[in-house]
Amino acid sequence: MMISINDYINNIFQDFSGYVKNSEKLCDLNPFTFEAGNIPDYSNIHIQQLYLLRYAFAYAFEYKRMYSKILKKLNIDTKLKIKSFGCGPMIDYWSLCNACEEHSFEYIGIDIIDWNYKFESQNPNPYRFIKENMIEYIKELKELDSDIYFFPKSICEIKNDDLTSICDSFRTKRISKDKIILGISLRADVRNLEIDACTSEKIANSIIENGFICKSDLNKCIRFEESHGIRKFESSFIYPDEVKALLDNLYNECSCSDEDSCEEKCREHLNRQPVLRTDNIRYQILEFERTK
Ligand SMILES: C[S@@+](CC[C@H](N)C(=O)[O-])C[C@H]1O[C@@H](n2cnc3c(N)ncnc32)[C@H](O)[C@@H]1O
Repeated sequence: MMISINDYINNIFQDFSGYVKNSEKLCDLNPFTFEAGNIPDYSNIHIQQLYLLRYAFAYAFEYKRMYSKILKKLNIDTKLKIKSFGCGPMIDYWSLCNACEEHSFEYIGIDIIDWNYKFESQNPNPYRFIKENMIEYIKELKELDSDIYFFPKSICEIKNDDLTSICDSFRTKRISKDKIILGISLRADVRNLEIDACTSEKIANSIIENGFICKSDLNKCIRFEESHGIRKFESSFIYPDEVKALLDNLYNECSCSDEDSCEEKCREHLNRQPVLRTDNIRYQILEFERTK
């Protein structure tokens, strides 16, 4: 049976709280921010822990919603093929397994980093993980043979030159399915949302140039109109109180002071709460059908 999201978070918490207890300073975690284009160092296991304690709960919920909607649009009598670009610890695989209990699929996750806390592969739908730059991976493919191409909060990390290469692949390679879906999770703040939507539009236009029509509104981004706790929608999603308490006060566990150059950053970035509400959910589900 697949681990619950709460047990997954609790397991990471055991490791992270051990690190916090045994470390005088937590400055190594900084800068832990996505502001001003910063990307945290995902190769650092403690950054992975903090990232997952903050975001895994909300992302697992968001991706489950996305996959549930995507599956309704596809003919699931056949074995679905999914490629997840920037899969990280496979949160979206967990969401897919939970959204798609009765169907068989073939999931390939690609990421430049081999994360420590990858969800376990499950029968009857085991995953394949490929540690590679998605740009090289797509470039090397003879054809694009998946039904679903999923970008779980990874579109924001594609650099401009790399985007050109991805778009070239989607424009010129043979796409073997007559119907494909892009599932793209976007950042929520207005400026970054615009940047991410622009990236997704470029990929979508490449698919259109390859002989497909987009049946979805390219300008539409799905969000929750009202702010709710995720638990309202998924009663099994219960974020552990002790984890929340630790994250809410993390800065106090770091003993750096005015004399340390990192003090301001630590104060600013170490007290962020875990994401437990629907406010920041933004995604697109773009459906394409072959025209020629
Ligand atoms: C914000 S994290 C999202 C991780 C995970 N999908 C999630 O939902 O939490 C972005 C991920 O994209 C990966 N990534 C960024 N650029 C990449 C590239 N060019 N090729 C493969 N993976 C990439 C990073 O290593 C990281 O795991």
